[in-house]
Amino acid sequence: MSLVVTGATGHLGRAVVESLLERGVPAADITATGRSTEKVADLAARGVTVVVADYKDPASLDAAFAGADKVLLVSSNDFDDRAGQHRNAIDAAQRAGVGHVVYTSGPKATTSSMLLMADHKATEEALAASGLTTTVLRNGWYVENYTPQLPTYLEHGIVGSAGEGKVSIALRRELGEAAAAVLTGEGHEGMVYELGGDAVTLLELAAIFSDVTGTTIAYTGVPVETFQGILVGAGLPEPVAAIFADVDRAISIGELEVNPTELAALLGRPATAAADAVRIALAE
Ligand SMILES: NC(=O)c1ccc[n+]([C@@H]2O[C@H](COP(=O)([O-])OP(=O)(O)OC[C@H]3O[C@@H](n4cnc5c(N)ncnc54)[C@H](OP(=O)(O)O)[C@@H]3O)[C@@H](O)[C@H]2O)c1
Repeated sequence: MSLVVTGATGHLGRAVVESLLERGVPAADITATGRSTEKVADLAARGVTVVVADYKDPASLDAAFAGADKVLLVSSNDFDDRAGQHRNAIDAAQRAGVGHVVYTSGPKATTSSMLLMADHKATEEALAASGLTTTVLRNGWYVENYTPQLPTYLEHGIVGSAGEGKVSIALRRELGEAAAAVLTGEGHEGMVYELGGDAVTLLELAAIFSDVTGTTIAYTGVPVETFQGILVGAGLPEPVAAIFADVDRAISIGELEVNPTELAALLGRPATAAADAVRIALAE
């Protein structure tokens, strides 16, 4: 069984490879790809095949996917025609005759109004049209989207525009574990999973950060336009600020809240509770 994990130079892809190895998949059965091999040199040293593959370079994808039984397509973090990059990978999987493609999408991708979901929707549609056997992992928000902002939270509290909406948060490595479970398990063909841990409001998240740090961290809710202005004032480029503010808008209308049962089923246990997940991610 030959498994290719793209994006293995990133956080999620690496977590998937680590989980595959922990599950006893022989290193020789795993190919880890990214745009450079340095970040995965340690995996190569453990016997994992390491191949350079760029979503913008179809020939590199053909070489990486040759002979693969299953490919995990980790969504790109490069927003220059991201859907086109994913289509290149899907086309290469078709040419290589890959038996099963697993894609990391986002919450409610095909119905969400969130700006970030447009590429995921286009990719899911391309997968559906491809005739390939697929599984879609609609990964919810990483707790690691929030924990690196602790210094800002300590200074200003949490400022946002999510209202009473909830965001399902999970440790990124648990989402990686879930992907490894799908790659090594059975019965996932054709499935679309909405994956997330505990759902919390930003007010509840602020309480968790307060508890974990022992310092009061307040939540200040502001209108979306105000939040976007605050982010621009803090130095974010306008388009990035618009995307971040749009995330909170989406949270406010429930688009990032998912039922935790599907992640728990893939993990074989409930995902780490929100407060523990924050504690673990901060410690790391
Ligand atoms: N659910 C969430 O909360 C959330 C949050 C952030 C991002 N995401 C999405 O989930 C994905 C995985 O998350 P992550 O934390 O692992 O992100 P990450 O650490 O930023 O890793 C992104 C991966 O995408 C690869 N990549 C970027 N452009 C590529 C290209 N042209 N060809 C091939 N590979 C390319 C990167 O490879 P290089 O090492 O070569 O750059 C890297 O391996 C992200 O890329 C993003 O689409 C989800």
